Amino acid sequence: MTLLDKTFYIETFGCQMNAHDSEKVIGTLVQEGYRQVETEVEAGLILYNTCSIRDKAEQKVFNRLNDYKALHKEGKRFAVLGCVAQQEGERIFERAPYVSLVSGSASYRKLPEMLVQLEAGNNRITGLDDRQTDKTFETEFTARSNKHRGYITIIEGCDKFCSYCVVPYTRGKERSRTSDSVLAEARRMADSGYTDIQLLGQNVNSYRDPSGKMSFAELLTAVGQVAGIRRVRFTTSHPRDFTRDIVEAIDAVPTLCNHVHLPVQSGSSRVLQRMQREYTREWYLERIAWIRAARRPISLTTDIIVGFPGETEEDFDETLSLLAQVGYDAVFAFQYSPRRNTPAISMKDSIPEDIKSRRLQTLLECQREIQRVLYSRHIGEIIEVMVEGERASRGQVSGRSSQNKVVNFTVDSPIMPANGTYLDVRITQSFPNSLLGEAVVASYSSKGTHREEVPVV
Ligand code: 5AD
Ligand code: SF4
Repeated sequence: MTLLDKTFYIETFGCQMNAHDSEKVIGTLVQEGYRQVETEVEAGLILYNTCSIRDKAEQKVFNRLNDYKALHKEGKRFAVLGCVAQQEGERIFERAPYVSLVSGSASYRKLPEMLVQLEAGNNRITGLDDRQTDKTFETEFTARSNKHRGYITIIEGCDKFCSYCVVPYTRGKERSRTSDSVLAEARRMADSGYTDIQLLGQNVNSYRDPSGKMSFAELLTAVGQVAGIRRVRFTTSHPRDFTRDIVEAIDAVPTLCNHVHLPVQSGSSRVLQRMQREYTREWYLERIAWIRAARRPISLTTDIIVGFPGETEEDFDETLSLLAQVGYDAVFAFQYSPRRNTPAISMKDSIPEDIKSRRLQTLLECQREIQRVLYSRHIGEIIEVMVEGERASRGQVSGRSSQNKVVNFTVDSPIMPANGTYLDVRITQSFPNSLLGEAVVASYSSKGTHREEVPVV
């Protein structure tokens, strides 16, 4: 057996949890003596961190594997991680025999052992803990891709079992990290210059501190009070577990962002029941009323599924009326995708693809109009923005507000503000998905980078 070339390429599909898992996987690999490279062809080990939430996400991975399978003949090894790995398990070896390692996220803590096996020439390595484990994947060696804004996982897995969703099967049962461990990570991040933290979990508000010290709202408050941290967000929340003390914490702690992502999935109580969401439209709207009653202008975003089995035109109209009633600042909308092993796959009255697609278009058009109106209300305001990059072709800087809105702006200075800088911006124009403005001049020159002179030809 040839010694494994200890270079790796990793590609990540899917959600923020996957993106952050990959940061931890990269950190672990580097700790084990591997070096990250930019392309499949340069790498000895090729890893795909996969997503199976919807059909298209899953198909992408098999396409990618197929595109690069010839590299196996050159001695390169393939690993499939994440939700497709957990769901398909050893079937992946049948479908793609050149894959050597298949591991779901609930087994990543065993990666160092799995790598030893890989290096020893084992070509059928599995980490498929599914719902048995109550251990979390904790590592000090997280290779964060952004220097200012970073994720911290506080809870892994999901126990909700919504009838359409694979996550409880692919990410295992709910298990929380201790508040001490979360806070230690937040302090380490603050010490190395991070100012913006996003607490992550499939369902952050069912967080249960194993040490019993803190509720979710208390943990949120404590992270918001770590010296140096200026912004804290959390995602994603389940309405069933959304408690009033979360809103009180946002009101009380200035570093907690003015933003709550509260997936509703449907505006029809009948559909919600079939989705096993365990709340009604009225219950959901009560939580929205708490958020709207806050002293701060909290922005709201949500997830919607259209075309769930049995969804009538009346049900769909109820979803549209909910969007109008709540006034979300952004909506992530998906066509229902039947998933293996989930209860919804065997439900009657599936909705034809053309109707699903028409409903999605209708919903997106209605939402665009809602956002056009909502975003225009910011004109004339001064909003604090954290700089995330340049839009060089337009001579603009881009960043996000506390409400998580994209703000593009000009600066009246030859020096561009560095990423991670906080600046006040006066809003002059609005669009359905972003705001445009000009920086209210502040001094940031010590951190800034000079604009490149563009020669005029
Ligand atoms: N089909 C379509 N959308 C889904 N989601 C989860 N499962 C499915 C599915 N089977 C959506 C939900 C969830 C988001 C992350 O993905 O809206 O909140
Ligand atoms: Fe899936 Fe429901 Fe769990 Fe969210 S709460 S991950 S939609 S089962």
